[in-house]
Amino acid sequence: MVRKFLAIVTITAAAGSLSTGASAQDAAKGEAVFKQCQTCHRADKNMVGPALGGVIGRKTGTAAGFTYSPLNHAAGEAGLVWSQANVVEYLADPNAYLKKFLTDKGQADKATGSTKMTFKLANEQQRKDVAAYLATLK
Ligand code: HEC
Repeated sequence: MVRKFLAIVTITAAAGSLSTGASAQDAAKGEAVFKQCQTCHRADKNMVGPALGGVIGRKTGTAAGFTYSPLNHAAGEAGLVWSQANVVEYLADPNAYLKKFLTDKGQADKATGSTKMTFKLANEQQRKDVAAYLATLK
């Protein structure tokens, strides 16, 4: 009886760790989320938005030939380099993210105007997945 109970506890614990695994960043799922970004972005060319190939690890505002908003440009000058972690935060509210970055850097005077990226992604899991997908773009 006790044995059977322990077995059930073990199975429940295993199922628990599986569901934790599902919240990890999933680039394959991120590729599907990226369809929403493709209205404005491609990996290899500028469209409404800058080319995103190699964006993870790149200083913001530096896609060749793309004209960024003054706000986005200022964040790059202040040292914003994209990582999977900060893209997850940025996508929730790009405008607020860039302004907070500049304010935290002591450049509140430059935290004005708005970014040209008018899109927000509310779902945190989708943000994590698409950030993992961005890291695969060359
Ligand atoms: C409606 C068009 C639009 C959509 C949809 C959109 N973006 Fe953007 N994105 C832009 C524009 C325009 C910029 C340039 C921002 C600026 O200059 O202020 C940008 C900038 C960015 C940057 C910064 C790039 C750099 O070179 O520093 C990232 C990262 C980004 N977008 C990711 C995404 C992702 C991921 C999605 C989908 C989840 C997405 N965007 C959806 C228009 C869009």
